[in-house]
Amino acid sequence: MESTLSIIKPDGVKKNIIGNILKKFEDSGLKITHIKLIQLTEKEASEFYEMHDGKPFFKDLVAFMSSGPCIPFVLMGENAILRVREIMGATDPQEAKEGTIRAQYADSIDSNIIHGSDSQDSATREISFFFG
Ligand code: CDP
Ligand code: MG
Repeated sequence: MESTLSIIKPDGVKKNIIGNILKKFEDSGLKITHIKLIQLTEKEASEFYEMHDGKPFFKDLVAFMSSGPCIPFVLMGENAILRVREIMGATDPQEAKEGTIRAQYADSIDSNIIHGSDSQDSATREISFFFG
């Protein structure tokens, strides 16, 4: 059993597709064990994405992630980390496989609807960032 952290980003909340996104994960058999709706400050968004500090997209990413409410949640199941990444699709929606959340709903690489932890270490850090 693994747990992983996902976030419906502010664009997903604005588009009114929270239910559609959660349904995809639930239909895959993953369990939602924690969930909330919050708006990150710029400081919190910078801290969450600190591994990208210095990259050309960092400033816009922080502005985007703090631009409105988002929905962090924890998904639990066998191989949850990898399964969530597969259900999300590639970072760039143009490269995301058909049927994935990003292929279906994302407008662009910088407005791509969903976050998912990319490793056991980041899952641990990110779950504790939002849920202690
Ligand atoms: O979210 P994911 O793990 O798939 O991608 P990442 O490489 O960890 O990048 C984190 C986030 O930064 C992406 O989801 C995008 O929102 C943003 N990003 C961007 O705006 N432009 C890029 N060239 C790369 C990432
Ligand atoms: Mg990432």
